[in-house]
Amino acid sequence: MANLSFLDEEISELKSQGLFNTIRTIGSAQDAWIDVDGKKVLNMCANNYLGFANHDELKNAAKEAIDKYGVGPAAVRSIAGTMTLHNELEQKLADFKGVEAAISFQSGFNSNVATVPTIMGPDDVIFSDELNHASIIDACRLTKAKTVRFSHCSAASLEEKLKEFTNARRKLVITDGVFSMDGDIAPLPELVEVAQKYDAMVMVDDAHGEGVMGNSGRGIVDHFGLHGKVDIEIGTMSKAFGVVGGYVSGKKKIVDYLRQRARPFLFSSAATPADVAACIKAVDILTASGELVEKLWQNSQYFQTKLIQAGFDIGVTVTPITPVMIGDPSKAKAFSKSLFDNGVFGMAISFPTVPKGKDRIRVMNSATHSTKDLDFAVDVFLKVGKDLGVVF
Ligand SMILES: Cc1ncc(COP(=O)(O)O)c(C=O)c1O
Repeated sequence: MANLSFLDEEISELKSQGLFNTIRTIGSAQDAWIDVDGKKVLNMCANNYLGFANHDELKNAAKEAIDKYGVGPAAVRSIAGTMTLHNELEQKLADFKGVEAAISFQSGFNSNVATVPTIMGPDDVIFSDELNHASIIDACRLTKAKTVRFSHCSAASLEEKLKEFTNARRKLVITDGVFSMDGDIAPLPELVEVAQKYDAMVMVDDAHGEGVMGNSGRGIVDHFGLHGKVDIEIGTMSKAFGVVGGYVSGKKKIVDYLRQRARPFLFSSAATPADVAACIKAVDILTASGELVEKLWQNSQYFQTKLIQAGFDIGVTVTPITPVMIGDPSKAKAFSKSLFDNGVFGMAISFPTVPKGKDRIRVMNSATHSTKDLDFAVDVFLKVGKDLGVVF
């Protein structure tokens, strides 16, 4: 056996810096109130924006799919054939998004990793927002293309970088739609305008915008009315859609090419029938009504206003993602623990997920919270904030 003592050192180092992550155990379905480590607490940290993770209609669709299709796809789709369910989901997603086609993957992470290395190669340049999600960073690392970072949400910085690489074979601009840690959004109209000027493709990862932004949750492209101007949209089914999985949507020729060449499509089995059927139901519900999305935004506005009035710094968010800034890893951990002791589940987020010194409690609002729940959460935040000297 190899000597693994280096891992003891790495782990002690994490612990001494207050960066060792202890994962809580959930003993119930994801909902407004959940059982965490045997205790009933108000859930303020899941990405279950619309309550779909424990929605009766999604659960029934999943159960019916299991009865009809079993529990697994039993191979990759290109080898053993694709189930009708996966095709139905892709068609419904394309219709929902108002694009020509969509292709589904096992996760949002995989959707990025599937797309970027497939369309970008040597002699190509990727222009990536400096705060893009880890899955975009890894997707870029998997290509042989050059990756250039532009300043966060800055079309001017993007233009400066594009000017340096006018001779590149292909150019691809990539940005998160909604930035998952700060809740700010990409200035997509400006980025698209600059990209068009330099003949660059645009890809937006809208993991936190799907089901949240735009008409009935159609995402950030719909929010800005940029239909037909963004080449590739990445979505996840693991957040507002409440299930698990990811997808790429856009022009048919991009989707067709990914079906031929994207490695997570060709070398990894598809999502299970239960997952896919539940995703289809989520799309059906959103297509029929924007009620849940409206409730989510009402809750967020209510909660964020109350936190600001209480004196908390919630950064630059313009979405339901609510970072409560603490600024120190140990204090953020103590804050999270004290929230929990007082009945609220809100996890501390520290480096490497956010930059050092930007430690925070990231609160995720949901359409499932009642006003009473939100009032309770604000009271607990205020009590803990005063105890720890975050507010006065
Ligand atoms: C911007 C972004 N892209 C991709 C992902 C990964 O999505 P999934 O959980 O479906 O793999 C996330 C999730 O954290 C995300 O925030």
